[in-house]
Amino acid sequence: MMVAIVQARMGSSRLPGKSLADICGRPMLWHVVHRVQRARLVNKTVVATTEKCSDDPIALLCQQEGFPCFRGSDEDVLDRFYRAAKTHEADAVVRVTADCPLIDPVVIDRLIAQFQEGNVDYVSNAMRYTYPDGLDTEVFSFRALEQAWSEAQKASEREHVTPYLRSGDFRAANVESETPVAAGQYRWTVDHLEDLEFVRKIYSAFRGNGHFGFQDVLRLLKERPDLSAAPTSAISNEGYYRSLYQQAVAGPARKLLLNQSQEWLARSQKVIPGCAQTFSKGHTQYVHGVAPTFLQRGKGCRVWDVDGNEYIDYVQGLLPNILGYSNDEVNRAVSAQLSEGHSFSLPHPLEVQLAERLIRLIPCAEMVRFGKNGSDATSGAVRAARAFTGRDRIACCGYHGWQDWYIGSTTRNAGVPAAVRDLTHSFRYNDLENLRNILEEHPREFAAVIMEPMNFIEPAPRFLEGVKYLAHKHGALLIFDEICSGFHFGLGGAQKFLGVTPDMACFGKAMANGFPIACVVGRTEVMRTFEEIFYSFTFAGEVASMAAAMKVLDILENTDALATLEANGRTLQDGLTVMAKEAGLADRLKCVGYPSWSLLKFLGPDGGDSPLFKNLFQQEVIKRGILLLSTHNMTAAHEGKAIQQTLEVYAEAIKTVATWLEDSNPSRFLEGPMSQPVFRVR
Ligand SMILES: Cc1ncc(COP(=O)(O)O)c(C=O)c1O
Repeated sequence: MMVAIVQARMGSSRLPGKSLADICGRPMLWHVVHRVQRARLVNKTVVATTEKCSDDPIALLCQQEGFPCFRGSDEDVLDRFYRAAKTHEADAVVRVTADCPLIDPVVIDRLIAQFQEGNVDYVSNAMRYTYPDGLDTEVFSFRALEQAWSEAQKASEREHVTPYLRSGDFRAANVESETPVAAGQYRWTVDHLEDLEFVRKIYSAFRGNGHFGFQDVLRLLKERPDLSAAPTSAISNEGYYRSLYQQAVAGPARKLLLNQSQEWLARSQKVIPGCAQTFSKGHTQYVHGVAPTFLQRGKGCRVWDVDGNEYIDYVQGLLPNILGYSNDEVNRAVSAQLSEGHSFSLPHPLEVQLAERLIRLIPCAEMVRFGKNGSDATSGAVRAARAFTGRDRIACCGYHGWQDWYIGSTTRNAGVPAAVRDLTHSFRYNDLENLRNILEEHPREFAAVIMEPMNFIEPAPRFLEGVKYLAHKHGALLIFDEICSGFHFGLGGAQKFLGVTPDMACFGKAMANGFPIACVVGRTEVMRTFEEIFYSFTFAGEVASMAAAMKVLDILENTDALATLEANGRTLQDGLTVMAKEAGLADRLKCVGYPSWSLLKFLGPDGGDSPLFKNLFQQEVIKRGILLLSTHNMTAAHEGKAIQQTLEVYAEAIKTVATWLEDSNPSRFLEGPMSQPVFRVR
């Protein structure tokens, strides 16, 4: 028996009594039940409300309308569901909430069909939103519900019914819309009065006849954009994040055992200047003595340090591991290549195949040259631009690697000749005037404008187009540094995502899931310059990394890896935003940027960066098993359980640090010296 259970109550902090709010002469709950009843694969529809007298009107409506009604616990909604399901002899349950009056019976049937196809315990369309928010439907077996009911302990799991089914060891699947909409584009749940008014307008447009589906609503909104709801800052599943915060217990976590870390660091100090090969991987980037200094192994989203402590890793090698550590498929592709050799004496066909593939994917790519590090690519592109234009000056915006031409423009410019430093000019993101002034100061001297098209701040409308126009007007080439945005922002990079095509672009990092490879791509006329300049080094054509890149692109093109990492990144962003608000830190803790690569910003009361706040937070999450610099470098391997665990850690850390920040001397809660910035770019 497939039993749909519609969860309803009168209490709502934002819109009390909303379940029975009037929509075209009928209570909202009435519409929801009738819509659910129209799903062909639902055998029975039950309303589950609470035993509180304030919910008597719901029970009364059910009695009048002949809807089966079950009354149970107010707070332990999981228990209410379980008992309702048991009472009505459900083999499987469809979960719907009464605040979704546009719920669609066709979508419900689609989910049930997927559930019935087998091999899953739980099916939802809201683990990753490809339907409008407000069509949320979940289908699960009674057996899974019973297990969750007997095992789930946390208040958030009991109140929100299904988190345990999503984060435990159940087989869960997300059902995607055949005509996907962007996450956050439509919000049709009723939380606020404006949401209710929007839904009323929709029902009125269909003359109160509830026999319309979500596709009809989308069509209607296209024809009548005036009906569209005003964009809100509402966050999906806000109540769930709030309850995670409320259940968290504040207090410092126990210090990790880091004896081996300390020993390796001491040995390293004698033989490796800086004790790391990359600044951002060094021990100075974390609270000293609190964070591990050496990692031993990694699998998926997790790493283990040399003392055996386990962490969910949000650094992921500084972004490359887009599929997580040690991906089996990539490893197999690399092993197969290794068995045939990988550093050859002549070019290998993989070079051509990979180039052809990148050309198919990336808008500006007509030809490709490979390298190993991102710095190879950016420096190669800059040299090519200088040779192509016969000019020397470069305007840049962002971080572009370790070579002289760029690093000379930063505060860590020791060792870079003044003559080189003088040729690179930094300009501010989203500030066309600034770029214009720089270009005009040295007319006909700029070879290129190189920039990260987007990191954590969205380009202002027409900003990138403006940069392209200015660069070309001054006879310079436009180079996009997509070392970070590449692949995380979609397979065509930020240039495709944002719709602006540069002359050249640089990719690296995530291209081969951690195997060293980078590339410059660009239009043929410019790329031919690589035949003139010197861009040549022993390992540029090493093909094990190319085999890895081919496999990574296979996976990114043919699976939902990118959609998954984006959805999970959004969950972290949303969760953090809600929890910061709960802690009274909405203005001081933010998570900005695109969900697949977002930045945590820790601000002081004056709105400026607060390194102390950042260090306190980092200290508390690391001790709780989350390795974090200050970005979420999402991978497809950060699965539901890891995200759930992270949110629980964030809740505890935010609650803890929020109390410390009220202290007259919060730095006394630091358990070691603070991290030291390399220099600030972002
Ligand atoms: C935007 C950007 N460009 C270039 C680079 C340089 O890449 P690599 O460190 O691989 O040389 C980086 C590295 O972090 C980067 O973030």
